[in-house]
Amino acid sequence: MNHFAPSILSADFAHLKEDIDATVRGGTDYLHVDVMDGVFVPSISFGMPVLKCIRKATDLFLDVHLMITKPERYVEEFVKSGADLVTVHLETLENPKEVLEQIRAQGVKVGLAINPETPAEEIKPYLPYIDMALVMTVHPGFGGQSYIPECTEKISQIAGWIKEMDLSVDLEVDGGVKLDNVEMVLENGANVIVAGSAVFAGDIEKNTREFMDILKK
Ligand code: DX5
Ligand code: ZN
Repeated sequence: MNHFAPSILSADFAHLKEDIDATVRGGTDYLHVDVMDGVFVPSISFGMPVLKCIRKATDLFLDVHLMITKPERYVEEFVKSGADLVTVHLETLENPKEVLEQIRAQGVKVGLAINPETPAEEIKPYLPYIDMALVMTVHPGFGGQSYIPECTEKISQIAGWIKEMDLSVDLEVDGGVKLDNVEMVLENGANVIVAGSAVFAGDIEKNTREFMDILKK
C-alpha cells in the first residue's frame, strides 16, 4: 500500500494546524516530521515540543525523521511526544542493531535512513529488523532541493532485496519529489512518498490531492 507523507518542514509554522488540516482534506494519511540538530545536518529545525503540539492537533500517522547525531539519546522522548514511526540515519549509529531494537521496544515502527552518498548495500543487513527503509534523494538539511537522479538505482536495488527476502518493509523516498517525478519513484519500488515544497507552496489541499491521485493509481 502506498502512503503519502507531507513534510511539514516546508509548512508555515505560524499556522501549522491549518496547514496540516489542508493536507488531511487532500487525503494524506501520514505526516513527515523532520528533526535536525545542526550537527548531523547543517540546519536546525525543531524538536519534541513542536512534535507534542502536532500530536495534539492531528490523528495522522506521524513519521518522525531524526537527522541528529547519537539519536539513541532521544528515542524515548520522541515516542513520548507522539511519534508513530522513528527513523534514524545509519550514518549516525555506532551499533545499529541495538538502536533499532531500542526503537522497537518503545512500541513504535522502526525506520532506517541512508544519505545519497551511502551505498545501498550498507542498509541491506538491517532490512529484516526494520519496518521502513528511507532513501534520501537530496542531501539532508533543507527542503526545496532538486532530486539527485543517481539515487534512483538505490531505490530499485533496495526494493529488489525486500522482495527477494520476502519482507514486509516499506520503502520511503525523501527529497526533491514533485508531481513530475513521483511516478518514476513509485515505478522503482518506493511506496512511501515524502514531499515538502511541492505540497506547502500554493494550494496545500489541491497539491496533496494531486499526489494522492497518483499514489492511488
Ligand atoms: C530534507 C528533509 C526532507 C525535506 C523534503 O532534509 O528530510 O523531508 O523536507 O523537502 P522537499 O520535498 O522540498 O525536497
Ligand atoms: Zn525527511
